[in-house]
Amino acid sequence: MTAAAFSASVLGLELRDLPWRRTRDPWAVLVSELMLQQTQVARVAERWPAWLAAYPDPTACAQAPTADIIRSWSGLGYNRRALNLHRAAQLMVEVHGGRVPNTLDELLALPGIGPYTARAVLAFAYEVPVGVLDTNAGRVLARGVAGRPLGWREAQTLADGLVPAGQAWRWNQAVLDLGARWCRARGPECEACPARSACAWAGAGRPPPDPAQGTAAASAGQSTFAGSDRQGRGRLLRHLGTHGPAPAGQLAAVAGWPEDGARALRVAAGLVGEGLARWTPEGHLALPQ
Ligand code: ADE
Repeated sequence: MTAAAFSASVLGLELRDLPWRRTRDPWAVLVSELMLQQTQVARVAERWPAWLAAYPDPTACAQAPTADIIRSWSGLGYNRRALNLHRAAQLMVEVHGGRVPNTLDELLALPGIGPYTARAVLAFAYEVPVGVLDTNAGRVLARGVAGRPLGWREAQTLADGLVPAGQAWRWNQAVLDLGARWCRARGPECEACPARSACAWAGAGRPPPDPAQGTAAASAGQSTFAGSDRQGRGRLLRHLGTHGPAPAGQLAAVAGWPEDGARALRVAAGLVGEGLARWTPEGHLALPQ
């Protein structure tokens, strides 16, 4: 089977109707892709519209107090993304006239925007023919096109080369859908997969090892949330956002580790170090000003 046959079956895919697929606004696309990186589709679908209504463009975001931005991210996890987005919005205002830039280099220069997010903005907002490569896309290309594991650079080159002319948006959304719905990491549903007849790995009878294993874009996945520092960080930030500053002596209880004050202080210090929180002169932990 050829890459061309694979491309044809990917382009024929019926896409899921997701809210961010109804816009090409670069800011809206950027926000959705940042949220989608580490938060489930269903939760992003719930939260993204309200977030954008509150901060409809880079200027609105840039002008908001940092504390509001952190509060608005509550429940989405990985709050550093909110802080980076806020800083990126400020740079868009200062350097790019209040717009999301439309070149790879300018996007990559913004905080929190890596190769995945930069290409997602280029393909989904500006129809630039680049391959949007995340874990899911890497898996799809390794199995479907190469039939063997791919290194990151190799996967990115392959992804960029596969985008059909004028179809950057559709192609990349379809590849992501294929990975989410059929070409799953564990237990791919090849029997039902619309690209099956053109898939290199399926065509070879799915010989082990699975090409997805060892494909470089594959992430390690999220670590367990319950009992993690991440969970405590989230609890602290949510508390500061809703109740205001908390005395150091209360942090262990707020973080959910009543017996481990040292851990709570260490995690609080981490938040302060990242700019997600600050100590007040009274020694309370607070959101940034
Ligand atoms: N995951 C990352 N980007 C996505 C998108 N645009 N649609 C669905 N899932 C995604």
